[in-house]
Amino acid sequence: MDTVLNEDYIMENFEYYNPVKILFGKGKIEELNKHIPKEKKVLITYGGGSIMKHGVYDQVVKALNEYEFIEFGGIEPNPLHETCMKAVELVKKEKVDFILAVGGGSVIDASKYIAAAVYFEGDPWDILAGEAEITRALPLGVILTLPATGTEMNANSVISKRSTEEKLAFANKKVMPQFSILDPVIPASLPKKQVANGVADSFVHVIEQYMTYPAHAPLQDRMAEAILKTLLEEGPKVYKNPADYHAMANLMWCSTMALNGLISCGVPGDWIIHNIGHELTAFHGIDHARTLAVVLPGVWKVFRDEKKEKLLQYAERVLEITSGTEEEIIDQAIKKTTEFFESLDIATRLDKYSVENSTIDKIVDRFVSRDWKELGDRGMGTPEKVREILEKQL
Ligand code: NZQ
Ligand code: ZN
Repeated sequence: MDTVLNEDYIMENFEYYNPVKILFGKGKIEELNKHIPKEKKVLITYGGGSIMKHGVYDQVVKALNEYEFIEFGGIEPNPLHETCMKAVELVKKEKVDFILAVGGGSVIDASKYIAAAVYFEGDPWDILAGEAEITRALPLGVILTLPATGTEMNANSVISKRSTEEKLAFANKKVMPQFSILDPVIPASLPKKQVANGVADSFVHVIEQYMTYPAHAPLQDRMAEAILKTLLEEGPKVYKNPADYHAMANLMWCSTMALNGLISCGVPGDWIIHNIGHELTAFHGIDHARTLAVVLPGVWKVFRDEKKEKLLQYAERVLEITSGTEEEIIDQAIKKTTEFFESLDIATRLDKYSVENSTIDKIVDRFVSRDWKELGDRGMGTPEKVREILEKQL
């Protein structure tokens, strides 16, 4: 296929700086003491207790035997502002000066928020709702137990507020981890459902930075396509057997590379799938990755003409669809991508999650009240289009 390049589109100027040290491989937890200064008082943060079951807790405690440390557990999936504020109190009372997050995206995001909230004057929720400036944050280290979000190597954090049923994100370089340990043995204990979530979330992260329009950036395109193809190949293997070291190692590296800022350098992004997905989690508690698998086909159905060049490129290079008219190829691309999610037992229709029209109304009203009138790729995501996208998936 000949890529149609609009000469008005250029590779945009960019700055890329990613200071997160990645410590990848078996047994890397043993090296913790090389990466946290000895005089630090450490707070270990974790979730609902899986770290006790898969043995990581014991490894961490052993590796920290020369340190003074305390713990804060009970961070929930889709972490709550209310829970984080309890940790902030503990940090202040105990004069903690290093946070070690041991968990998936929820624990890591919560730890980033805690690290910033400790020094924030006023209500820390303003960091999310009011885009308030973060002047300082505690240093943070990460032990990743679930490959999915890419938070281990980025500046982002997504936090929910129970009292208002909101889920919002912030991004700030000051909360980037100093190091992240990625040991592919650790996620072997994941329930298959969480592995599927990891594959789908990583896949959609790439799509959000790729499925826009050609922008004279063939290297970024090919890097994105490489991650997508690897996920298509390795995803089913790791879903079948989370203890398959090779497949898990590849999923871990794919999910980190999918959202560490590299593939988005100089190219347009979208993120409408995430904007809408976060609302489905906020109102219905649906797993983050599953919301994305529902919204993605809706976005492609509604914007198939606007995203045509990239949809055709994706169909040919990633899915290897070579025959048919352009319209047939795009239909095939949407179908095959949906089938990929379904093959991981991820439902892609809203009725499967008991979401009805009334939720669509609530989401659209919320976007209007936030003045989110031009979301995503080229600002095409008006509230009317958001309604159309969701209605396609009912
Ligand atoms: O809480 P525990 O007991 O640890 O159990 C967790 C949790 O129930 C479990 N788990 C994690 N590692 C395990 C394990 N169970 C067994 N063995 C292991 N090795 O898995 C469950 C889900 O964990 P969670 O951290 O919630 O999942 P995930 O990593 O998918 O994170 C989802 C959160 O990240 C946000 C999402 O919105 C959501 O709040 N995201 C963050 C992003 C970022 N910061 O860049 C980008 C993403 O798009 C996403 O929005
Ligand atoms: Zn995501």
